[in-house]
Amino acid sequence: MHISIKNISEATCACDALILPFTEGKTDLYDSLGSSTAQLIRRVFRKEFNGKHKKVLCIPAPEGLKSERLVLVGLGKKNEISPERIRQAGGKTSDALRSAGMKKLALSTAVLSSLDISPAEFVEGFLLGLYSFDKYLSRKDKKKIDTFMLLSASSKNLKGELFWKETIASSVCFVRDLVNTPANDMTPTHLAQRALSLKKPSLSIKILDRSDAKKLGMGAYLAVARGSKEPPKFIILEYRGAKGAPLVIIGKSITFDSGGLSLKPPEGMERMKDDMAGGATVLGILKIVSEIRLPVRLIGILPATENLPGGSATRPGDVVRSVNGKTIEIINTDAEGRLVLADALGYAQRYKPMAIIDIATLTGACSIALGSEAIAMMGNNGRLMERLKKAGEETYERVWEMPLYHEYKDYLKSDVADIKNYGGRSGSLVASAYFLSEFAGKVPWVHLDIAGTAWLEKEKPYIPKGASGIGVRLLLNFIKAS
Ligand code: BES
Ligand code: MN
Ligand code: ZN
Repeated sequence: MHISIKNISEATCACDALILPFTEGKTDLYDSLGSSTAQLIRRVFRKEFNGKHKKVLCIPAPEGLKSERLVLVGLGKKNEISPERIRQAGGKTSDALRSAGMKKLALSTAVLSSLDISPAEFVEGFLLGLYSFDKYLSRKDKKKIDTFMLLSASSKNLKGELFWKETIASSVCFVRDLVNTPANDMTPTHLAQRALSLKKPSLSIKILDRSDAKKLGMGAYLAVARGSKEPPKFIILEYRGAKGAPLVIIGKSITFDSGGLSLKPPEGMERMKDDMAGGATVLGILKIVSEIRLPVRLIGILPATENLPGGSATRPGDVVRSVNGKTIEIINTDAEGRLVLADALGYAQRYKPMAIIDIATLTGACSIALGSEAIAMMGNNGRLMERLKKAGEETYERVWEMPLYHEYKDYLKSDVADIKNYGGRSGSLVASAYFLSEFAGKVPWVHLDIAGTAWLEKEKPYIPKGASGIGVRLLLNFIKAS
């Protein structure tokens, strides 16, 4: 889809559909388009449409306009308008137009600009809402929108904003594709190939295989990989856009989580192909950051493996040694995420990072606590968490801090090893983070649990069902602001 800014009037713009945003109850916003349009809008406002937030109505355009149709979009009450509400309206619009067979669209930007909100927010929601996953469908939807024009006289700032929003949306959709891809195709090897395909002079890729990991002493990571015939791949991406200590982002990359010998029940197990959502997010971020050459030093780590109950699988009760030397008693092989992250956190220390952020579909308890409305955040550095909260508010990928009291240490006391990987259901969201903190060392570190948000059973205004791509907008915002 080609997006452009056009300095022409709504009435003379030739297109399949002209998108007109409305605040609630305001009928006179488009009177300048001529009396027949003004009349039509007043008539529609009597019944079908009144500008309520997220309402979209498509009607034939009146005589005198060059557009075939009008798409009336509700922004809601003027005093409740926010960038997020505009993105949601944009998402609802793409929903309505997705399969309507229109090719050429135009958006009237005057009302948005008068509300002091960039039309680029609407476009962001529109692009994110347009996403669908049809890779495995024999019959693909051929009706694609090819042109999107923003009708605006001033294009200076808008152009840059649009570029950024397009970049973000493409990265989110890249991540959604990775996460939606079934685990028989999205193997650790495939994930590694996808990482390798991003290689460029400023972005180097290193893949450690089973024997490399063994040499490095990654006993926790390898314990998870034992039960699968799929070779594990410990993927490292190093982007050099600046000098100095890097930010390391680590993404949980379990390409399928069966639970291992602590096998999960069959209901809903198919969803566990999304257990590499954190890793996909990290990949998506390194892809974009290296493409647009942000001036940062960034390292991405994806400890990729399957978690299967094969003949040589790890048993409950087994004790392994992690890369930082700590021994771990594996109580439950389904608490595998923290094992692979432990070695990734340990490995990350070699970069002397200024900070580490890990992002992971780590606990069922996260989704019990927060549903799909917020990412659970825990960490050892208040300033870092404040910055993430701000990025969360701005992107609406909201994060909610949970405590990391030292008392949680007791939850993970093992009789036979330095620590155990599971201490029971009570407090399991925070205990999982406490486990990770033991491997983060003294580096400023934040853990983001996206188990409730990475996959949606029910769509949201600009997030279809399935993989949400959450974390990309949050972390890009965070990185760009730093
Ligand atoms: N990948 C799961 C967490 C998860 C659960 C993500 C549901 C998304 C939806 C993780 O590896 C896991 O299995 N966690 C268990 C551990 C426990 C049984 C030891 C959990 O939190 O329930
Ligand atoms: Mn698990
Ligand atoms: Zn898992």
